Amino acid sequence: MEIKKVSVIGAGLMGHGITQVLAQIAGYEVSLKDIKQEFIDTGMGRIQWSLGKLVEKEKLAQTDADATLQRIHPTLDMKEAMSDTDFVIEAVPENLELKKKIFAEIDQLAPPHAILSSNTSSISISRIATATKRPDKVVGMHFFNPVQIMKLVEIIRGDKTSDNTVSVVKQVSQKMGKETVLCKKDSPGFIVNRILVPALNEAIWLLQEDVAEPEDIDKAIKLGLNWPMGPITLLDYVGLDTTLSITKVFQKEMDEQKYAAAPLLGKMVKEGKLGRKTKQGFYDWNK
Ligand code: 3HC
Repeated sequence: MEIKKVSVIGAGLMGHGITQVLAQIAGYEVSLKDIKQEFIDTGMGRIQWSLGKLVEKEKLAQTDADATLQRIHPTLDMKEAMSDTDFVIEAVPENLELKKKIFAEIDQLAPPHAILSSNTSSISISRIATATKRPDKVVGMHFFNPVQIMKLVEIIRGDKTSDNTVSVVKQVSQKMGKETVLCKKDSPGFIVNRILVPALNEAIWLLQEDVAEPEDIDKAIKLGLNWPMGPITLLDYVGLDTTLSITKVFQKEMDEQKYAAAPLLGKMVKEGKLGRKTKQGFYDWNK
């Protein structure tokens, strides 16, 4: 199946990076859909920043940066985003009902051959697929932040995902310059978040129990385990709201007690301290 046009739903933290890599590395025409002009503007601003950084470091020619931007078509209109699309990547907030609503809409508007993928970090692909009449063409495509740098895409099979769909997702990922792993079962958190999120939650418990300062927790894991970023910084980077919603899925789908979020995480989210994106998380990002 030849992919010419890809549509991304959501220009946020993940959506803007996915859009950039689709246009810059894979060379696709990309339609970028969001619900508000300000979200589109922020996403496009981030893409411009990132392309600028690559040009500055001589990793990308200015002409290629310009051509990348030409291939990105922002829109607020779902019909326009879905017209002639071959492949959709949804990257909206982690909420099953929201995702189901969007999948029902895109199923109506996208051509019958189009594959519909979700960049969910923990929600069941099979459940998202129930909102459509093409569950064989619904699949998980989980990227990592920053998408421009991180090499991995987890491909997640829902109950009804076809072999052909998995094979097309693999091709698209490879064209984007990514490595893939296949999650054979639609299991909460897939591979990476199943391991990462309990570890991040444990780091918050250490803070809450006043065992160590944030800087020392980060230093310990950076130097003791060779992570590029300590877990407290990584929490601010990933977003505290995203992390909390993943723990909630784990609790609901697996074990209420074992995966309970540290109360400090819920408190921070309630206070709107979501990490780098709100300039305040466990660290102050105003500087
Ligand atoms: N666009 C272009 N270039 C970028 C960029 C972007 N958006 N973000 C970073 N870079 C570049 C920098 O310019 C720099 O380039 P250089 O090597 O040529 O100097 C390079 O990437 C490294 O950046 P920095 O020097 O600023 O900082 P670091 O060395 O700390 O690297 C990092 C940044 C790559 C983010 C690194 O800290 C890292 O790998 N951190 C861990 C990230 C991680 O674990 N992500 C996964 C999160 S989990 C997830 O996303 C799943 C979700 O479902 C929860």
